[in-house]
Amino acid sequence: WLWSISNKYIMKIKQFTKYLNNIIPEPPYATIILGSGLGSLPSIMNDKITIPYSSIPDFPLPSTLGHKGEWIFGYINNKPILCANGRFHYYEGFTLNKVALPITISKSLNTQIIIITNSAGCLNKNWDLGDIMYINGYIDYTFLNNNQIPINVPIKINPSKYHTMKKAASNLKINLREGIYTWTLGPTYETAAEIEDIIKLHGSAVGMSTVPEIKKAIELDIEIMCFSCLTNYGAGLHPEKLTHQSVLEISNKTNKQFSKFIQEII
Ligand code: HPA
Repeated sequence: WLWSISNKYIMKIKQFTKYLNNIIPEPPYATIILGSGLGSLPSIMNDKITIPYSSIPDFPLPSTLGHKGEWIFGYINNKPILCANGRFHYYEGFTLNKVALPITISKSLNTQIIIITNSAGCLNKNWDLGDIMYINGYIDYTFLNNNQIPINVPIKINPSKYHTMKKAASNLKINLREGIYTWTLGPTYETAAEIEDIIKLHGSAVGMSTVPEIKKAIELDIEIMCFSCLTNYGAGLHPEKLTHQSVLEISNKTNKQFSKFIQEII
């Protein structure tokens, strides 16, 4: 039931796709979902066209601070790119299909690859805040699915894409981390006990998004590359108080480097 979808909504998705197709000049090579505070990527895009979610009839609107709610089409290194600036979270009350809407639409628009980004809590004390982590697996820690014990699900990547990403990182002297992203429901941050448990399950990062998008992309058989900007240490790992504001501050600092990294990958 979590992923149930009505025929009416399938029609809506077709309507949204048609609307976007009428505006963008060509299908995007890549779609990039921008996480909290990572919204500066469009500043390096050329020939931009901005399409506010609010201009698309019946399109949902995100409510989280740092999530604008617009599609931006443009070019990076002459490649057509579509950014979703502003994502939907399950904790905002959206169904999982609405959360994954940017993925479904990207598939309908014939995107070749989706790059998913987020801000996340860091669970490895040897890593630095502001580090970028490639997500090579996920843990669904929401307990939405009949209290199943959370397990690590590896994310497949084509070896040449993996090589491209590692090379992009080394060209820019980015110390790219790699690990497992854990999805918690939110909207509050975790308790110290939850973080302890997630570390035992081998989670390296924790956040409230991305996993529904990954699940949808896998279902629709679209290639993905997912990254976390590590903005804070998980609850209980560091004496400083964890706030959305401090998360935004760190992600804003990483923003530029992150944009360069994505450009290098493209
Ligand atoms: N927990 C959950 N979500 C987050 C965090 C965190 O520590 N940091 C940024 N998003």
